[in-house]
Amino acid sequence: MKINKNFDNLVPNYLFADVAKKTNDYIKAHPDKKVIKLGIGDVTLPLAPVVIEAMKNGTEDLAHKDTFKGYPDCDGYDFLREAISGYYKTLGVTVAADEIFVSDGAKSDCGNIGDIFDKDNTVLVTDPVYPVYVDSNIMAGRKIVYAGSNKENGFAAMPDDSVKADIIYLCSPNNPTGSAYTAEQIKVLIDYALKNVAVIIYDCSYVAFITEDLPRSIFAVEGAHKCAVEICSLSKTAGFTGTRCGYTVIPKELERDGHNIYSAWYRRQATKFNGVSWPVQCAAAAVFSQEGQKQIKENISYYQENAKIISSALDELGIYYTGGKNSPYIWLKCPNNMGSWEFFDLLLNEANVVGTPGEGFGANGAGYFRLTSFGDRNNTIEAVDRLKKLLTKLLK
Ligand code: MLT
Repeated sequence: MKINKNFDNLVPNYLFADVAKKTNDYIKAHPDKKVIKLGIGDVTLPLAPVVIEAMKNGTEDLAHKDTFKGYPDCDGYDFLREAISGYYKTLGVTVAADEIFVSDGAKSDCGNIGDIFDKDNTVLVTDPVYPVYVDSNIMAGRKIVYAGSNKENGFAAMPDDSVKADIIYLCSPNNPTGSAYTAEQIKVLIDYALKNVAVIIYDCSYVAFITEDLPRSIFAVEGAHKCAVEICSLSKTAGFTGTRCGYTVIPKELERDGHNIYSAWYRRQATKFNGVSWPVQCAAAAVFSQEGQKQIKENISYYQENAKIISSALDELGIYYTGGKNSPYIWLKCPNNMGSWEFFDLLLNEANVVGTPGEGFGANGAGYFRLTSFGDRNNTIEAVDRLKKLLTKLLK
């Protein structure tokens, strides 16, 4: 037998596994220290009460013969797809319920969507980038080209018109840089995709953090129905990182290479995915109820306040950063031109605070660092306090 040799082209470890290992080694060696983790974007607040209630009721259904549920449809129950379609309506965007695939999260869909595309397609991603887009396409043997996000473009890269790409991944608000694309920028990307007969995979997992007048869906921008697939998750919107639920929208009219993209993805999901469990879909539907929307916004506000606490400290220290405004991530320049991993080690050892080294997201992340606002409030305040002390000493 032969193994998929494309795996040889991957960096040895998944970024967050590296961060976790280094953190755990430190904790083991220093059991007396209180380490505060602002690394991986994992939520810390419990699920909203209305969501828990729906999940409990869904679980109770499984306890009785007349309400018991077996295999769900691979694309989700109608009531949840209708609820998601209703949410799009509130954004002024038309997405039919039967254009929605309920899934176990954005990471899986971003990683799996490549199954329906040929391996000879060229993939365009930004640099820095959420590693899943890159790694999953390397596994498939695709060529990857990069659009460089940097200080000059506010860490929100646009494609180079002279470069041809077939698949474009765009995350807005962006992980890791926290930048959010404007409607004008998204229109340029759509025009680029249409010109190249490409498909945009638009990941809007952080949409709930938008505070400014920015598109909350790629389908709010003209032309998107002819070139885009939108992937979203309830992980960051409603605290489902452990519960697992997300969705993918594929316009029925989207065709490429003589094939319907919706039908191809349906075929893929029917073969490889058995759907999301009944209690979780009940819980997810509660997110889109009026009360659910109110309750999840309270949690989002809590994280947004954390983001303000972090960014205010950086403002005080005069450190350059992006994000924090329309995003739970704060992307900052490491002090004194330190390398990302160098700063990671220093912060862990001297302040016992964990962040994510920018370099792990791509070459353009070298010298940058990501902090998340998903932490507990008191821990965030304490971490910022320690960070300020360390940086004040360093910047003297
Ligand atoms: C992150 O920290 O970048 C995210 O939590 C990772 C993910 O959503 O898979």
